[in-house]
Amino acid sequence: MKILSVVATRPNFIKIAPFIRAIEAERRRGTVLEHVLVHTDQHYDNNMSAAFFAEFDLPEPDYHLNIGSGSHAFQDGNTMLAFESVLVAEKPDWVVVVGDVNATMACCITAKKMQIRVCHIEAGIRSGDRTMPEEINRILTDSIADLLLTPDELSLENLKREGRNSNEMAFVGNIMIDTLDFIVQHKKLPEISGILSQKSLDKSGLSSFDSSLPIVFITLHRPSNVDSQEKLGKFIDWLASKSESQLLFIWTMHPRTMRNIAQFGFENRLKQIQNLVLLEALSYTETLAINQQARCILTDSGGLQEEACVLGTPFLVLREQTERPATLVSEGGTGIIAGNIGNELDTLFEATLTQKRRPHRPPLWDGKTAERCLTQLLKPNL
Ligand code: UD1
Repeated sequence: MKILSVVATRPNFIKIAPFIRAIEAERRRGTVLEHVLVHTDQHYDNNMSAAFFAEFDLPEPDYHLNIGSGSHAFQDGNTMLAFESVLVAEKPDWVVVVGDVNATMACCITAKKMQIRVCHIEAGIRSGDRTMPEEINRILTDSIADLLLTPDELSLENLKREGRNSNEMAFVGNIMIDTLDFIVQHKKLPEISGILSQKSLDKSGLSSFDSSLPIVFITLHRPSNVDSQEKLGKFIDWLASKSESQLLFIWTMHPRTMRNIAQFGFENRLKQIQNLVLLEALSYTETLAINQQARCILTDSGGLQEEACVLGTPFLVLREQTERPATLVSEGGTGIIAGNIGNELDTLFEATLTQKRRPHRPPLWDGKTAERCLTQLLKPNL
């Protein structure tokens, strides 16, 4: 059997690494399996892409599509055209797509129109918010993929409600957590002080930071938060209101956020906040190290939510809703929905600071999801 997997952005690398390891283990057991890796290059900076290949010992992609940045139509259309040529050359039995980025949807549609079977890992999650590009990608992918592998049981219900049959789906658990467990078991996590000195965007003020203070870890990259001058400005004002607190705020910058901060002229306002360190985009192990030690996290990332839940770090979701409800306090997790950088942030933040660390693993978030994905794919009746 020939399996062709697609990656495009930072979270995809985290999801595909354990799947490739599962394929290698299956081969060692004697199963004849060919694997082809395609990188669309939606993320292309070293610290958004190549650094992750090195960190996870991922094989060099067999194909680079060099799509890069652009509007959604630009990325979707160009991905389809370039991916079609790969499929013509490779003729795989299965295409595997992960997550909810533009390549997930574009490659799924391309393969299905060429009568090639598609498996979607992380199927069925729904935010209910169709203004999010990811929600459109999820709905389109899940409406036509042949094998839908879900991270939780709620996602199975979502798929059934949308008319998919039970025999087209399986609950396999969360593949992101396979990577988390693997890294915790095999790699030494870096010290916070080392991360700050290596990744700080302004090294001149570093000596004034006290890395023994309780850490508040921040990541923001959703267009709904960072493309809005008003919302981003409001968040920076809120951070400034905390500049006297005995807390160390560590904000790791996504390129989209960094670009907007410069464009909106917010750089000086940020520099004036004494207890805030801005970092460039971090590696996986660096992110994990800060997550593990943070008093709390403020984020609009889905993957970080899941990792915080498993590590027990209290977090606030800076969005109106989440497609990952299994990570919330109401379900035994550690997260609370705080909304899109609104007025309630301060009250929720103060409450979260007093919350204890409480690691929580939803069912089948056990580090063995990739094996179950491959078992489903290799089922003889498919
Ligand atoms: C994409 C995904 C999002 C995912 C996120 C993870 C879609 C619709 N969105 O959003 O679901 O959570 O990745 O990070 O697929 N840029 C660089 N260097 C890079 C990549 C991007 O500078 O290597 C800058 C460019 O200015 C680009 C902007 O970041 O225009 C946004 O990148 P893009 O890939 O379009 O979307 P993300 O916001 O990263």
